[in-house]
Amino acid sequence: MVVTKFKYKRPEKIRQYKKQIEFMDAPCRFTVVEATTKAGKTVGCIVWLYEQAISEHGSFYVDKDGIFHSTTGKILNKEGFNYWWVAPTYKIARIAFRRFKRFMPKEIFTANESELTITLENGAMIFFKSGDDADGLYGEDVYACVIDEATRVKEDSWIAVFTTLTATEGSCKIIGNVKGTNNWVYKLAREAETGQKVNWKYYKITADDAVKAGVLRQSVIDEAQRTLPSGTFLELYYGIPFVNSSAKFAYAFDKAKQVKKCQVNYDYPIYLSFDFNKNPICCGIYQNYNEEIFCPYIIKLENSDIYKLCAYIRNKFTIPGSPYNPDIFIVNGDASGNNRSAMVKDNLNYFRIIKAELDLTQGQMQQLGSNPLIEENQVLVNAVLEHVKHSIDPDGAQPLIFDLEFAEMLPDGTLKKTDRKEASQQLDPLDTYRYFINRNFRRYLKGYRD
Ligand SMILES: Nc1ncnc2c1ncn2[C@@H]1O[C@H](COP(=O)(O)OP(=O)(O)O)[C@@H](O)[C@H]1O
Ligand SMILES: [Mg+2]
Repeated sequence: MVVTKFKYKRPEKIRQYKKQIEFMDAPCRFTVVEATTKAGKTVGCIVWLYEQAISEHGSFYVDKDGIFHSTTGKILNKEGFNYWWVAPTYKIARIAFRRFKRFMPKEIFTANESELTITLENGAMIFFKSGDDADGLYGEDVYACVIDEATRVKEDSWIAVFTTLTATEGSCKIIGNVKGTNNWVYKLAREAETGQKVNWKYYKITADDAVKAGVLRQSVIDEAQRTLPSGTFLELYYGIPFVNSSAKFAYAFDKAKQVKKCQVNYDYPIYLSFDFNKNPICCGIYQNYNEEIFCPYIIKLENSDIYKLCAYIRNKFTIPGSPYNPDIFIVNGDASGNNRSAMVKDNLNYFRIIKAELDLTQGQMQQLGSNPLIEENQVLVNAVLEHVKHSIDPDGAQPLIFDLEFAEMLPDGTLKKTDRKEASQQLDPLDTYRYFINRNFRRYLKGYRD
């Protein structure tokens, strides 16, 4: 069925945001937008894709009252015309699908929830797709495409999208945050920016632009600046790439400032952060009070086991002449310790053993259920290193200092642990620090992911 009476008007709020309109109405086939988080990239492109799907291909305009016109004055039958929204993952594609349904006039489309498709009454179809696998990005007659959060989409997927747009000479909007310089989006952005590519245009929206437009609050930016690592903050909010050329994991670690004599303070909880390796088994001792993090000890036991480690801890933190006091402990640690393990008696899990051996209550067992992604964890660790005062004891916690100094990231975004014989690659003390930070300082990631 072809709708004849439907009159589309571009949503009022879109019409007041000049920087958004600029990239939406870019007079070219390809558009790259590098913009701050919460700049209105996604919403702008939802509107754009919808307009592409209802309009006569390539020839429509929006007048000063926001009324859409096709240049020929009639609405085409667009049976077989496909439009794509490509996101880094299925989950992110589904979020865009839901936002699309909420935001755009519903009179002229039906949605298929399980396929993540929208079918318009003119026959055009909009597909919401995951870009995680380039093999899934084939299809015919794609007339317009949005690649959302493009810096998280692989180059192969971009090539697949580009191919599907070739026969139709379809348009594409590549939108996202800046994420380093070693990716296809960054390269295309620079070529588009410097005018080396015909039919391409480049747009940039910073946090200040978004504040001026009223879509982002200054307080959100201020909070992100207070909490995120400065490199990550500038990248996310101002589009300035952060290049950690040293490959150091803990690039914000500052030995001169953060290595300081410290002791256990029995007036505050003692966090035991466990890493369960066969050899050495490892536990980091952390405290957090007066807005400072303390690490007086890293306990590393060679050729040992969890029972001996617990006995060691009981002994170490019992004040001579007083009875053992279990109330002072809070347990953090490697989430995989929640699994049953063949390395402990009766196939129990590590945390149950710790709870029993140290006489702890369930409330003291504060390990996370799963370990976070390393990339996000690196941002968090450096946020905390940059913004929270530390005292890491030069003697008791020397192995942590060593790891903070020497731990490296591999190009694939994992920690270099290939050779466990090599001290700089064991990283067990660093792991205990990461688990402690993950459990207790996640608020420092606010403003990192949308
Ligand atoms: N033109 C606009 N006017 C007012 N609010 C807008 C506009 N565009 C986007 N927004 C709002 O700003 C927020 C961020 O938009 P979004 O498109 O998700 O940004 P991004 O994809 O750049 O992170 C959302 O709450 C959205 O509804
Ligand atoms: Mg977005």
